[in-house]
Amino acid sequence: MHFTKPSPPSDDKRWRIVEATMRRHGYDSHALIETLHSVQQTFGYLDTEALRYVAKSLRVPLSKVYGAATFYHFFTLKPQGEHTCVVCMGTACYIKGAPNIVAAVSEKYQVKPGETTADGKLSLLTARCLGSCGLAPAVVFDGEVAGKVTPEEALERIGRWMNHDS
Ligand code: FES
Repeated sequence: MHFTKPSPPSDDKRWRIVEATMRRHGYDSHALIETLHSVQQTFGYLDTEALRYVAKSLRVPLSKVYGAATFYHFFTLKPQGEHTCVVCMGTACYIKGAPNIVAAVSEKYQVKPGETTADGKLSLLTARCLGSCGLAPAVVFDGEVAGKVTPEEALERIGRWMNHDS
């Protein structure tokens, strides 16, 4: 069987975690739900790029992938916010204070994890492990992974977005 597997959408090393899940299942289409879980846990949400990549890798029609992603309530599609802040709540990050980051951002911007602020500027999300435990606590600001983040730093970065765009 000759099947060249597509390359990940970017060289973000979080894709390796997703690839490992697919590999473990021999790139079988039955691994769809588990693979989507893996994307969600490492990125915090599912976006079009990820859904296309998973569809191609598992050779499943894109419509079916979208179907699964929107049918199950435990999946979150890419949030509507102009900016996204994904706080890792995996064990290493949790121990090093990730909940304080979530609490600080939540309180300051009146947004719960998984939600977007009323003005549509910021979506706050959580992930289970970004695969960068050495950087704990890790936070992804608009796709860029930052390590050893304090609540103050998180508020500062987000504050810059909020001020710039207004
Ligand atoms: S637990 Fe946060 S990166 Fe692994």
